[in-house]
Amino acid sequence: MAEQSRAVALMMAVVALAVVGAVTEKVGPQPITHVATTDITDMMNPGPDRRMELPGFDPEFVDFPHYIIRITERIWHHREVELCLEYYGGEAAIHTLAGDITGAQTVVDNTYATLKAFPDRRLEADNVVWSKDGDTFYSSHLITSKMTNLGDSEFGPATGKAVRVLTVADCACFENRIIEEWLVRDNMGLVQQLGLDPDAVALKQAEADQKKGFSLPDFHANARAAIDTAPLVALEARASSESAAVKVLVAALNKIWNLRSLEGLDEIYDYRVSAHVPGARDLYGHDQLANFFRPVLGALNSTRLQVQHIAEIPYLGEARDVAIRWAVSGVHETDGLYGASTGLPVYIMGVTQARVMNGRIREEWTVWDDIAIRRQVAYKRLSVEARTIRA
Ligand SMILES: *[C@@H]1O[C@H](CO)[C@@H](O)[C@H](O)[C@H]1NC(C)=O
Repeated sequence: MAEQSRAVALMMAVVALAVVGAVTEKVGPQPITHVATTDITDMMNPGPDRRMELPGFDPEFVDFPHYIIRITERIWHHREVELCLEYYGGEAAIHTLAGDITGAQTVVDNTYATLKAFPDRRLEADNVVWSKDGDTFYSSHLITSKMTNLGDSEFGPATGKAVRVLTVADCACFENRIIEEWLVRDNMGLVQQLGLDPDAVALKQAEADQKKGFSLPDFHANARAAIDTAPLVALEARASSESAAVKVLVAALNKIWNLRSLEGLDEIYDYRVSAHVPGARDLYGHDQLANFFRPVLGALNSTRLQVQHIAEIPYLGEARDVAIRWAVSGVHETDGLYGASTGLPVYIMGVTQARVMNGRIREEWTVWDDIAIRRQVAYKRLSVEARTIRA
């Protein structure tokens, strides 16, 4: 009897162990890939199981951030450039501040051109902040690129210089394809690290535009007018239904670009804020942030900012990562950062990613292409010169 009950107890223990084992194995779906905190090896080997619903996407993608990281790895690091034909819609529009690019084949051609200029280019994923709207998924992909300029680029002849540059690729994706993209790269930081003069580069580009009969200011005229004629609903009021973290970033953008105030930034930014801004500059504290923005606002009158897309994901603990794509219209009416005033209405497209902790921004990445602003201004100067010569 004793023997028997011991055997039963042993069996029950074995059964219990098996149940515990099964429970630990079957903890349900894994958490959605969290790019900012996950090693690339783990992101490339996520296992077979879907972690979220992803209608129309290939089964190998476990979730949407994984799709973004995976295809970037293939296209750029495995140099499988032709895959753009698979992962971009045939008519996909790619918006940049220097103009639009249309179609998957153009993406392929441009990627080859970039690789020719920077053959060792890396695209390290710092973060993917994402959102969804029905079956359309949006990613704000923050990328650090390190690369050496060994071939001629859009900025001039090869310099042999090694550079580090921030890019944000905002993508709208539907059924395994990128259908629209907003691409912002810190070309100012890139050009400076190449040892080139930003305004000389911008002037050369504007001259080339003029020869082609392409006006960058005219190209942006409609987008700019859309901002200027939009009803003046206070941005913060419009953000009233957003989360606390989103409200913090909206308040920062609104204060700087709409209220044009650099006072009281300490209420929005952590005193230790680490801010990465155009010109490949790394700032510390809201005082340095104010010093960065002062000459920008000083050169552009009547700035108005429009929020174009918002995404938000958790970071660690209570911290949140927020990505906002925005557009600004302003008028180059004051001498300063962009040279002697031209009166040109300018357009800026930018993305800001903010890490919000305890109600303040602790780290920020703001990217826009300052070379493309200078190219708009240079174009305006060339057309004024042309008119003067003709007159
Ligand atoms: C632009 O702003 C500057 C500085 O505030 C001001 O002096 C100037 O009058 C403004 N220009 C126009 C045309 O409003």
